[in-house]
Amino acid sequence: MYKVALVFGTRPEAIKMCPLVHELRSRPDCETFVAVTGQHREMLGEVLAVFGVTPDADLDVMTPRQTLFDITERVLSGMRELLIREKPDILLVHGDTTTSFASALAAYYLGIPVGHVEAGLRTYDIRSPYPEEFNRQAIDSLSDVFFAPTETARGALLREGKRPEKIFVTGNTEIDALKYTVRAGYTGGLLENLNGQRLVIMTAHRRENLGEPMRRMFRAVRRVVDEHPDVTLVYPVHPNPAVREAADEILGGHSRILLTDPLDAYRFHNLMARAYLVLTDSGGIQESAPSLGVPVIVLRDTTERPEGVAAGTLLVAGTSEQGVYDAFTLLLGDAEVYAAMARAENPYGDGFAARRIADALLARINN
Ligand code: UD1
Ligand code: UDP
Repeated sequence: MYKVALVFGTRPEAIKMCPLVHELRSRPDCETFVAVTGQHREMLGEVLAVFGVTPDADLDVMTPRQTLFDITERVLSGMRELLIREKPDILLVHGDTTTSFASALAAYYLGIPVGHVEAGLRTYDIRSPYPEEFNRQAIDSLSDVFFAPTETARGALLREGKRPEKIFVTGNTEIDALKYTVRAGYTGGLLENLNGQRLVIMTAHRRENLGEPMRRMFRAVRRVVDEHPDVTLVYPVHPNPAVREAADEILGGHSRILLTDPLDAYRFHNLMARAYLVLTDSGGIQESAPSLGVPVIVLRDTTERPEGVAAGTLLVAGTSEQGVYDAFTLLLGDAEVYAAMARAENPYGDGFAARRIADALLARINN
């Protein structure tokens, strides 16, 4: 029996790894061990509930206003104990979080092979996104097998000297996750209160945007909403206290800006499927919104998802007040630009990435 350990700790990792947990648990020649670090607490719990996944171990590392030191130290030592005890044949980590980096490092120190799901994304600027670009490059430097979501990601890995037989192009499991969450007949409280208005959704949480960049983006957004009485903006605010303070200060008290707690993946994906437009600095939303036909304004200076820009579904606005104001105004006012973005194709897969990852993993042991 081939023993696969999977580890994740934050909301996006959980959304993208749960479809793989289900897929691997359905394979008779595979035993799974699911560890969560609890880097996120409430947001992780919500995803596990939506996908019906019960972890085998929980490191429970989260503290309010945690630093990168806190997360790295706790995950590294916690995963060391778990991996020594469980002795998996391989550890699967996802993407670019500190949970994934510290877990991959623990496995590497113990001589346990690492499989990287969502390998090969790059901005080549280790300060943007921070610390994710460092994390993903570091994870790829110590991984043994690479599950690249796109040909672009595979190309980056090949240019960095990874062996072609170790790289599998699978699509992104974010698209798999939508099959669990998006429902044609969904109706929800927030949708019922729209009264024919255009629904714009926003999210923002990146570490490098905390402070002044986030404040100036929020000022731009408030100005544009003020100028468009037919727009309602829903912003599920990340629980990071630094994000909440800025959101309350600049976006609070507006009749058409609704600041809510984070929505669980079921409610968020269904709301997004019905949105006119999304503004975000999120990675996962840059993948899922295009597959739902919803244009995305990227509130960042860089993106590791160039396929979405090339396909015309993502518009990178930067983080200046004028850049965000101009991009948001353009998409609300120019029907042709909007229609072209809403028509563009989803480059992130067909929803069968988890199956391809499981096939590739298990073929390795059967050969
Ligand atoms: C983390 C990841 C980032 C990912 C993001 C997804 C790192 C360094 N960052 O950033 O790559 O894009 O998750 O959302 O790995 N908090 C809660 N409850 C929760 C979750 C967070 O209260 O369920 C609060 C805590 O005060 C915590 C803070 O948010 O200290 C920040 O969480 P943290 O995981 O350090 O950073 P994120 O910005 O969420
Ligand atoms: N998401 C969610 N509820 C929210 C906001 C986002 O379920 O209130 C989902 C979103 O659809 C995507 C994932 O969370 O699937 C992205 O997570 P996040 O933006 O926190 O992280 P990133 O992708 O930037 O690492």
